[in-house]
Amino acid sequence: MRRPIIAGNWKMNKTESETIELLTDLIPLVKDADVDVVVCPSFINLLAAKKVLEGTNVKLGAQNMHFEDQGAYTGEVSPVMLKTSGVEYVILGHSERRQYFKETDKLVNTKVLAAIDHGLIPIICVGETLEQREQGITQELVALQTKVALNDVSSEDAKKVVIAYEPVWAIGTGKTSSAEDANDVIAAIRQTIADVYNKEVADAIRIQYGGSANPGNISELMSMPQIDGGLIGGASLTAEDFAKIVNF
Ligand code: 13P
Repeated sequence: MRRPIIAGNWKMNKTESETIELLTDLIPLVKDADVDVVVCPSFINLLAAKKVLEGTNVKLGAQNMHFEDQGAYTGEVSPVMLKTSGVEYVILGHSERRQYFKETDKLVNTKVLAAIDHGLIPIICVGETLEQREQGITQELVALQTKVALNDVSSEDAKKVVIAYEPVWAIGTGKTSSAEDANDVIAAIRQTIADVYNKEVADAIRIQYGGSANPGNISELMSMPQIDGGLIGGASLTAEDFAKIVNF
Protein backbone atom coordinates (compact mmCIF):
# COMPACT_ATOMS: atom_id res chain seq x y z
CA MET A 1 0.00 0.00 0.00
CA ARG A 2 1.19 3.49 -0.78
CA ARG A 3 1.34 5.79 2.23
CA PRO A 4 -0.44 9.06 1.43
CA ILE A 5 1.64 12.22 1.40
CA ILE A 6 0.22 15.69 1.89
CA ALA A 7 2.51 18.64 1.31
CA GLY A 8 1.98 22.36 1.75
CA ASN A 9 3.56 24.57 -0.89
CA TRP A 10 3.66 27.96 0.76
CA LYS A 11 4.99 29.65 -2.39
CA MET A 12 6.21 33.23 -1.75
CA ASN A 13 4.31 33.66 1.51
CA LYS A 14 5.15 34.03 5.22
CA THR A 15 7.91 35.93 6.97
CA GLU A 16 10.16 34.20 9.49
CA SER A 17 7.91 34.99 12.45
CA GLU A 18 4.81 33.95 10.50
CA THR A 19 6.55 30.70 9.54
CA ILE A 20 7.29 29.92 13.18
CA GLU A 21 3.77 30.83 14.24
CA LEU A 22 2.07 28.71 11.58
CA LEU A 23 4.21 25.69 12.33
CA THR A 24 3.82 26.05 16.09
CA ASP A 25 0.04 26.03 15.60
CA LEU A 26 0.15 23.19 13.07
CA ILE A 27 2.32 20.66 14.91
CA PRO A 28 -0.17 19.64 17.64
CA LEU A 29 -3.03 19.52 15.13
CA VAL A 30 -1.32 16.96 12.87
CA LYS A 31 0.69 14.95 15.37
CA ASP A 32 -1.47 11.83 14.94
CA ALA A 33 -1.76 12.07 11.17
CA ASP A 34 -1.81 8.81 9.28
CA VAL A 35 -0.06 10.34 6.27
CA ASP A 36 3.34 11.81 5.55
CA VAL A 37 3.13 15.54 6.24
CA VAL A 38 5.48 17.97 4.49
CA VAL A 39 5.71 21.76 4.56
CA CYS A 40 7.62 23.80 1.99
CA PRO A 41 8.36 27.33 3.22
CA SER A 42 10.51 29.77 1.27
CA PHE A 43 14.27 29.20 1.23
CA ILE A 44 14.97 31.97 3.70
CA ASN A 45 12.76 30.40 6.37
CA LEU A 46 13.88 26.79 6.03
CA LEU A 47 16.29 26.96 8.96
CA ALA A 48 13.76 28.61 11.26
CA ALA A 49 11.24 25.95 10.21
CA LYS A 50 13.72 23.17 10.82
CA LYS A 51 14.19 24.28 14.43
CA VAL A 52 10.47 24.30 15.12
CA LEU A 53 9.91 20.94 13.39
CA GLU A 54 12.66 19.03 15.18
CA GLY A 55 11.28 15.89 16.82
CA THR A 56 7.88 16.18 15.13
CA ASN A 57 6.23 14.18 12.34
CA VAL A 58 6.22 17.18 9.99
CA LYS A 59 8.92 17.02 7.33
CA LEU A 60 10.62 19.88 5.59
CA GLY A 61 10.62 20.53 1.86
CA ALA A 62 11.96 23.26 -0.42
CA GLN A 63 10.13 24.75 -3.39
CA ASN A 64 12.96 24.62 -5.90
CA MET A 65 16.74 24.18 -6.19
CA HIS A 66 19.63 24.54 -8.61
CA PHE A 67 21.18 21.34 -9.95
CA GLU A 68 24.83 22.20 -9.25
CA ASP A 69 26.42 21.58 -5.85
CA GLN A 70 27.98 25.06 -5.77
CA GLY A 71 29.34 27.77 -8.04
CA ALA A 72 28.72 31.10 -9.71
CA TYR A 73 24.91 30.99 -9.91
CA THR A 74 23.82 34.23 -8.27
CA GLY A 75 20.61 33.90 -6.35
CA GLU A 76 20.41 30.11 -6.49
CA VAL A 77 20.33 27.45 -3.77
CA SER A 78 22.03 24.07 -4.19
CA PRO A 79 20.98 20.55 -3.24
CA VAL A 80 23.92 20.38 -0.81
CA MET A 81 22.65 23.49 0.97
CA LEU A 82 19.17 22.00 1.24
CA LYS A 83 20.38 18.63 2.46
CA THR A 84 22.64 20.11 5.12
CA SER A 85 19.80 22.37 6.29
CA GLY A 86 17.54 19.46 7.16
CA VAL A 87 15.43 19.49 4.01
CA GLU A 88 14.09 16.09 2.88
CA TYR A 89 11.82 16.95 -0.05
CA VAL A 90 12.08 19.39 -2.93
CA ILE A 91 9.32 20.51 -5.28
CA LEU A 92 10.65 20.51 -8.86
CA GLY A 93 9.08 21.75 -12.07
CA HIS A 94 6.14 23.54 -10.47
CA SER A 95 4.04 25.14 -13.21
CA GLU A 96 4.86 28.58 -11.79
CA ARG A 97 8.57 27.80 -12.31
CA ARG A 98 7.82 26.58 -15.82
CA GLN A 99 5.61 29.56 -16.65
CA TYR A 100 7.43 32.50 -15.02
CA PHE A 101 11.00 31.21 -14.97
CA LYS A 102 10.99 29.26 -18.23
CA GLU A 103 11.94 25.91 -16.71
CA THR A 104 11.86 23.15 -19.29
CA ASP A 105 11.25 19.41 -18.95
CA LYS A 106 14.96 18.87 -19.58
CA LEU A 107 15.96 21.24 -16.78
CA VAL A 108 13.48 19.56 -14.44
CA ASN A 109 15.11 16.22 -15.27
CA THR A 110 18.58 17.60 -14.47
CA LYS A 111 17.27 18.85 -11.13
CA VAL A 112 15.53 15.54 -10.38
CA LEU A 113 18.80 13.66 -10.94
CA ALA A 114 20.70 16.12 -8.72
CA ALA A 115 18.09 15.87 -5.95
CA ILE A 116 18.24 12.07 -5.98
CA ASP A 117 22.03 12.18 -5.99
CA HIS A 118 21.90 14.16 -2.76
CA GLY A 119 19.29 12.02 -1.05
CA LEU A 120 16.47 14.53 -1.47
CA ILE A 121 13.02 13.28 -2.50
CA PRO A 122 11.76 15.21 -5.52
CA ILE A 123 8.10 16.16 -5.77
CA ILE A 124 7.85 16.48 -9.55
CA CYS A 125 5.00 18.64 -10.82
CA VAL A 126 3.25 17.95 -14.10
CA GLY A 127 0.02 19.30 -15.52
CA GLU A 128 -1.72 20.87 -18.47
CA THR A 129 -2.85 24.42 -19.18
CA LEU A 130 -6.49 25.16 -20.02
CA GLU A 131 -5.55 25.49 -23.68
CA GLN A 132 -3.88 22.09 -23.69
CA ARG A 133 -6.87 20.56 -21.91
CA GLU A 134 -9.20 22.02 -24.52
CA GLN A 135 -6.99 20.59 -27.25
CA GLY A 136 -7.53 17.17 -25.70
CA ILE A 137 -3.83 16.50 -25.13
CA THR A 138 -3.78 16.34 -21.30
CA GLN A 139 -2.80 12.69 -20.99
CA GLU A 140 -0.12 12.79 -23.70
CA LEU A 141 1.30 15.95 -22.20
CA VAL A 142 1.58 14.70 -18.62
CA ALA A 143 2.98 11.41 -19.94
CA LEU A 144 5.69 13.29 -21.78
CA GLN A 145 6.46 15.54 -18.80
CA THR A 146 6.72 12.46 -16.59
CA LYS A 147 8.93 10.54 -19.00
CA VAL A 148 11.38 13.38 -19.49
CA ALA A 149 11.50 14.23 -15.77
CA LEU A 150 12.40 10.61 -14.96
CA ASN A 151 14.95 10.14 -17.73
CA ASP A 152 17.99 8.24 -16.38
CA VAL A 153 16.36 7.71 -12.97
CA SER A 154 16.85 4.07 -11.89
CA SER A 155 13.81 1.99 -11.01
CA GLU A 156 14.87 1.82 -7.35
CA ASP A 157 15.11 5.62 -7.18
CA ALA A 158 11.92 6.10 -9.18
CA LYS A 159 9.94 4.24 -6.51
CA LYS A 160 10.83 6.93 -3.96
CA VAL A 161 9.95 9.89 -6.14
CA VAL A 162 6.66 11.76 -5.63
CA ILE A 163 4.74 13.14 -8.61
CA ALA A 164 2.19 15.92 -8.26
CA TYR A 165 -0.46 16.22 -10.94
CA GLU A 166 -1.40 19.89 -10.91
CA PRO A 167 -3.66 21.07 -13.74
CA VAL A 168 -2.46 24.64 -14.29
CA TRP A 169 -6.00 25.97 -14.70
CA ALA A 170 -6.91 24.65 -11.25
CA ILE A 171 -4.05 26.34 -9.37
CA GLY A 172 -5.17 29.24 -7.21
CA THR A 173 -8.39 29.61 -9.20
CA GLY A 174 -10.86 27.87 -6.94
CA LYS A 175 -11.59 25.46 -9.81
CA THR A 176 -10.75 21.91 -8.84
CA SER A 177 -10.47 19.09 -11.24
CA SER A 178 -13.29 16.64 -10.56
CA ALA A 179 -12.04 13.78 -8.43
CA GLU A 180 -12.83 11.30 -11.22
CA ASP A 181 -10.98 13.34 -13.78
CA ALA A 182 -7.93 13.78 -11.55
CA ASN A 183 -8.04 10.05 -10.90
CA ASP A 184 -8.08 9.31 -14.66
CA VAL A 185 -5.12 11.58 -15.41
CA ILE A 186 -3.18 10.14 -12.49
CA ALA A 187 -3.97 6.63 -13.75
CA ALA A 188 -2.49 7.68 -17.10
CA ILE A 189 0.65 8.94 -15.35
CA ARG A 190 0.91 5.64 -13.50
CA GLN A 191 0.48 3.72 -16.76
CA THR A 192 3.31 5.78 -18.27
CA ILE A 193 5.53 4.76 -15.36
CA ALA A 194 4.54 1.12 -15.84
CA ASP A 195 5.48 1.41 -19.53
CA VAL A 196 8.82 3.09 -18.84
CA TYR A 197 9.75 0.90 -15.84
CA ASN A 198 7.37 -1.85 -14.77
CA LYS A 199 4.24 -2.45 -12.70
CA GLU A 200 6.19 -2.71 -9.44
CA VAL A 201 7.56 0.81 -9.82
CA ALA A 202 4.18 2.14 -10.98
CA ASP A 203 2.48 0.59 -7.95
CA ALA A 204 5.07 2.03 -5.55
CA ILE A 205 5.29 5.62 -6.76
CA ARG A 206 3.10 8.17 -4.99
CA ILE A 207 1.13 10.59 -7.12
CA GLN A 208 -0.53 13.62 -5.55
CA TYR A 209 -3.24 15.91 -6.85
CA GLY A 210 -2.80 19.69 -6.55
CA GLY A 211 -4.96 22.64 -7.57
CA SER A 212 -7.51 24.34 -5.31
CA ALA A 213 -7.61 21.37 -2.95
CA ASN A 214 -9.19 22.42 0.33
CA PRO A 215 -10.80 21.01 3.49
CA GLY A 216 -14.11 20.70 1.63
CA ASN A 217 -12.95 18.60 -1.32
CA ILE A 218 -9.98 16.66 0.05
CA SER A 219 -11.96 13.62 1.26
CA GLU A 220 -13.46 13.03 -2.15
CA LEU A 221 -10.09 13.46 -3.86
CA MET A 222 -8.43 11.10 -1.38
CA SER A 223 -11.16 8.49 -1.83
CA MET A 224 -9.95 7.94 -5.40
CA PRO A 225 -7.81 4.82 -5.78
CA GLN A 226 -5.09 6.52 -7.84
CA ILE A 227 -4.70 9.68 -5.73
CA ASP A 228 -2.04 9.28 -3.06
CA GLY A 229 -2.07 12.72 -1.54
CA GLY A 230 -2.20 16.42 -2.17
CA LEU A 231 0.08 19.31 -2.94
CA ILE A 232 -1.68 22.19 -1.30
CA GLY A 233 -1.13 25.88 -2.00
CA GLY A 234 -3.52 28.47 -0.57
CA ALA A 235 -5.14 26.14 1.94
CA SER A 236 -1.75 25.28 3.47
CA LEU A 237 -1.28 28.86 4.66
CA THR A 238 -3.40 28.49 7.79
CA ALA A 239 -2.73 25.79 10.37
CA GLU A 240 -6.42 25.04 10.78
CA ASP A 241 -7.15 24.44 7.08
CA PHE A 242 -3.98 22.50 6.43
CA ALA A 243 -4.58 20.32 9.50
CA LYS A 244 -8.12 19.58 8.28
CA ILE A 245 -6.68 18.49 4.95
CA VAL A 246 -3.99 16.35 6.56
CA ASN A 247 -6.57 14.73 8.86
CA PHE A 248 -9.12 14.27 6.04
P1 13P B 1 -3.59 26.08 -4.77
O1 13P B 1 -3.89 24.98 -3.77
O2 13P B 1 -3.50 27.44 -4.14
O3 13P B 1 -4.50 26.02 -5.94
O4 13P B 1 -2.12 25.79 -5.33
C1 13P B 1 -1.80 24.52 -5.75
C2 13P B 1 -0.34 24.45 -5.99
O5 13P B 1 0.16 25.08 -6.92
C3 13P B 1 0.49 23.67 -5.08
O6 13P B 1 1.76 23.52 -5.57
